[in-house]
Amino acid sequence: MKTTMTGSEHERARENQAMFARIAPRYDLMNRLMTAGMDMSWRRELIERAALQAGARVLDIGTGTGDLAQQVSARCPQCVAIASDYTFEMMNTGRRNGRTLNFNAADALHLPFPSDTFDAVVSGFLLRNVTDLERALREQFRILKQSGRWVALDTTRPEKNLLTPFIQFYLQRIIPALGKYIAGQGDAYGYLTRSTQNFLRAEELANLAQRAGFREVGFARKNFGTIAIHWGMK
Ligand SMILES: C[S@@+](CC[C@H](N)C(=O)[O-])C[C@H]1O[C@@H](n2cnc3c(N)ncnc32)[C@H](O)[C@@H]1O
Repeated sequence: MKTTMTGSEHERARENQAMFARIAPRYDLMNRLMTAGMDMSWRRELIERAALQAGARVLDIGTGTGDLAQQVSARCPQCVAIASDYTFEMMNTGRRNGRTLNFNAADALHLPFPSDTFDAVVSGFLLRNVTDLERALREQFRILKQSGRWVALDTTRPEKNLLTPFIQFYLQRIIPALGKYIAGQGDAYGYLTRSTQNFLRAEELANLAQRAGFREVGFARKNFGTIAIHWGMK
């Protein structure tokens, strides 16, 4: 079992933080454009699957600008939502854009919370970015209370089918072009494409979640199989 970061993992984490710091100012706009606004409905579904009750403690890990945590607070005003990330510029952008959330600096691989603390742990587009996915899942499992819910939204490697050429064109040409012209960061959005193509298939992530200890694990594919919402219970 791996518990410490290697030199190259540190390096990858630092590069990742620097990249998110660069794209922070246009991050939310790019999300809406790349998904034609559909990310909002995926986030809503994610929150429904978290089955939040008034008073629930919810962690949004890899919160970025706080998009998901904001929706958690809007849909469950009596919940206590914590919005955690390790890139300050992303959280600062959220603050500057008027999000008054409980922002908190935290590394998903070493969560600064005691075990059995949260009723739900949610994340949007975090998992494919972490340097040690199994550890990230174990950490999320650890801080959940018994019967607490885990729900994650992320890109997923699509199955090959008739749409594959169109999906590849979209991932390899359209997204980096949008990143270049809208955010001025073509390279960063090229990374998004690569990280999607190199990430796990939905079934593989579900298996890893089970190995981390989650039960009743399931997933739903979205957007021609390029996005998935995964869920499970401690
Ligand atoms: C693609 S953004 C997602 C932002 C937001 N959750 C959303 O739904 O749009 C990924 C975020 O994960 C954060 N992140 C990546 N690795 C992390 C880690 N090990 N610990 C904490 N945050 C991490 C990045 O800083 C970035 O803000």
